[in-house]
Amino acid sequence: MYKSCISGESILPSIFLLCVALCYSSLALAKGTSSDVPLYKNPDANVEDRVEDLLKRMTLEEKIGQMTQVERSIANSSNIEQYFFGSILSGGGSVPSERASPTDWMDMIDGFQKAALSTRLGIPLMYGIDAVHGNNNVYGATIFPHNIGLGCTREPDLLKRIGTATALEARGTGIPYVFAPCLAVCRNPSWGRCYESYGEDPDLVRSMTEIIPGLQGNPSGVGIPSVDTQRNVAATAKHFVGDGGTLNGIDEGNTLSSFRRFVGTHMAPYFDAIAKGVATIMISYSSYNGQKMHTNQFLISHVLKKQLQFKGMVISDWMGLDRSTDPWGANYTNSVRLGINAGLDMIMVPFNYTIFQESVLSLVQSKSIPMKRINDAVRRILRVKFTLGLFEHPYADRSLTSMVGSQAHRDLAREAVRKSLVLLKNGNPGSTPLLPLDRKASKILVAGSHANDIGNQCGGWTITWQGSSGNTTKGTTILEGIESAVSSETEVVFKESPDASFAKNKGFAYAVVVVGEQPYAEYVGDNFNLTIPKEGIETINNVCSAVKCVVVLISGRPLVIEPYLPMVEAFVAAWLPGTEGQGVSDVLFGDYPFQGKLSRTWFKTVNQLPMNVGDKHYDPLFDYGFGLHY
Ligand SMILES: *[C@@H]1O[C@H](CO)[C@@H](O)[C@H](O)[C@H]1NC(C)=O
Ligand SMILES: *[C@@H]1O[C@H](CO)[C@@H](O)[C@H](O)[C@H]1NC(C)=O
Ligand SMILES: *[C@@H]1O[C@H](CO)[C@@H](O)[C@H](O)[C@H]1NC(C)=O
Ligand SMILES: *[C@@H]1O[C@H](CO)[C@@H](O)[C@H](O)[C@H]1NC(C)=O
Ligand SMILES: *[C@@H]1O[C@H](CO)[C@@H](O)[C@H](O)[C@H]1NC(C)=O
Repeated sequence: MYKSCISGESILPSIFLLCVALCYSSLALAKGTSSDVPLYKNPDANVEDRVEDLLKRMTLEEKIGQMTQVERSIANSSNIEQYFFGSILSGGGSVPSERASPTDWMDMIDGFQKAALSTRLGIPLMYGIDAVHGNNNVYGATIFPHNIGLGCTREPDLLKRIGTATALEARGTGIPYVFAPCLAVCRNPSWGRCYESYGEDPDLVRSMTEIIPGLQGNPSGVGIPSVDTQRNVAATAKHFVGDGGTLNGIDEGNTLSSFRRFVGTHMAPYFDAIAKGVATIMISYSSYNGQKMHTNQFLISHVLKKQLQFKGMVISDWMGLDRSTDPWGANYTNSVRLGINAGLDMIMVPFNYTIFQESVLSLVQSKSIPMKRINDAVRRILRVKFTLGLFEHPYADRSLTSMVGSQAHRDLAREAVRKSLVLLKNGNPGSTPLLPLDRKASKILVAGSHANDIGNQCGGWTITWQGSSGNTTKGTTILEGIESAVSSETEVVFKESPDASFAKNKGFAYAVVVVGEQPYAEYVGDNFNLTIPKEGIETINNVCSAVKCVVVLISGRPLVIEPYLPMVEAFVAAWLPGTEGQGVSDVLFGDYPFQGKLSRTWFKTVNQLPMNVGDKHYDPLFDYGFGLHY
């Protein structure tokens, strides 16, 4: 009716007048109905007004529900409806089914959402996942290089494009919320999460926060959570704060530092993340000067929320409250009290939700947690949900499934691989450099445990939490990249672990040796010798003593390589490149230049650690920023 009024100019005046009258009454009618629709459901209302309107309608139980995040494996319609979960997550490797398709993911998440929307107030839940190098739990998703490699690109715009692609691959499985980026400033490569850090220099990490406007779209204001469109996601800056500075690089350890240094080194990237409107911030398992970050009221409530004016949502890490005592969960109720009073808004519980909710309820009833604190937490959670457009678009957009592992994203990942490679050596004095490799050689050898293994080249946080060797997802191995780069006449011989006699006098023009670390992630990955695993050393020795070779190292950090450099013609640090192995061959054969610069100091021996750029005693094998060119 309204529409016909608009086009009413062409019809007879009397009919037009009648139409205007009808139109007026229908508008009045619409207005009448709209007063029955709660303000929080009005998409045109201001976000802050919607938050306040909804907050005042909520019971304490509903508020505590919003603060609860549980793991997908224990969520179902009945507990979603009974306990009002605000969020559900996939832990590392937690999938609806093995090799689940994008549609399977959407069906699962929409099922949870349907239950959430059926509750009294119909508050949508927010599904979250660790998409830390692409949407990495999902079979067939594009796996980008881990952050240590991206740091070597020194290219913020590339990070922005990777953020955009990752958001689309998350939305392509129905997921609006990712636990990335990691803004750790890793100061010691013994730490098993060092590859999740863009580098050891806070300025480098700051520049790489450009991934946030990629994930979320353009910011709408400092400190204000902003998510541009239904093709973007809410991001998480993590782990606040000091995760990369722990003593001896021990995971979840203690960062000892003056406040001034702590802010300058570890907090600085959060200034940028907040300025770029990051929607959520995750707290670190680590301690600062002996105090667990999860219960650090000064740093969370005073510094982050008040001084830095962060208006988004603070989330705990997985079982972060349990883990704030030793042994874990020793005094859970007290940890809940300390954590929530410190300023945690949403708790990644993620299993024992009844114990969590009962604890919060009793603590509020006994006034051990002030109601003001609960309201602050829920305001922030709702603010992120309204900003995300979840109330208007609670369900997956089925048109986006083709984004997962799309050719455009694989091309982007391949570009990122090319730009992340760092050339450490090319040629010995007086000899012609081996690189770029001759693609017309008649016979070449490719060797090593990492030459033809997708799992190894992706590292941890790939399909599973710790990652694993083998054919774990779709992609192109480095061997496949080499095979497609050489001329059709070139014979490529591949041997995973050749013995000492294999390479000798077989007429190989050269060998490409691809070795490195086995996949690992947090905790399990802590390593205090940082040697190349034994089989890799054997392969280098066996092959490079018999034929001119380039070693391509696949690793989440610099390793001890000084002893092997003299026997190799060329050495390339390829980090953890992900699914697009052709990015490595693109550069080895000279189709593209080497342009990566070390995002970390390359030490000679582990006795030198920690050693970072700017240190007084700085005597590395390769300086921070080093990288040769053709
Ligand atoms: C839902 O999950 C809970 C465990 O979190 C379980 O105890 C309960 O039986 C499940 N309910 C249904 C209907 O599957
Ligand atoms: C738990 O913490 C509370 C508050 O600090 C304390 O009173 C209580 O004794 C603790 N309980 C245990 C078993 O440590
Ligand atoms: C939940 O908490 C109770 C009581 O602390 C404990 O006995 C139980 O093992 C916990 N369940 C899980 C799944 O962690
Ligand atoms: C890896 O798995 C894919 C998909 O199942 C298959 O096409 C490919 O041949 C496998 N590659 C290897 C080396 O086994
Ligand atoms: C180095 O440390 C790793 C991790 O702790 C261990 O698995 C490996 O055996 C160690 N290697 C040597 C040569 O000590």
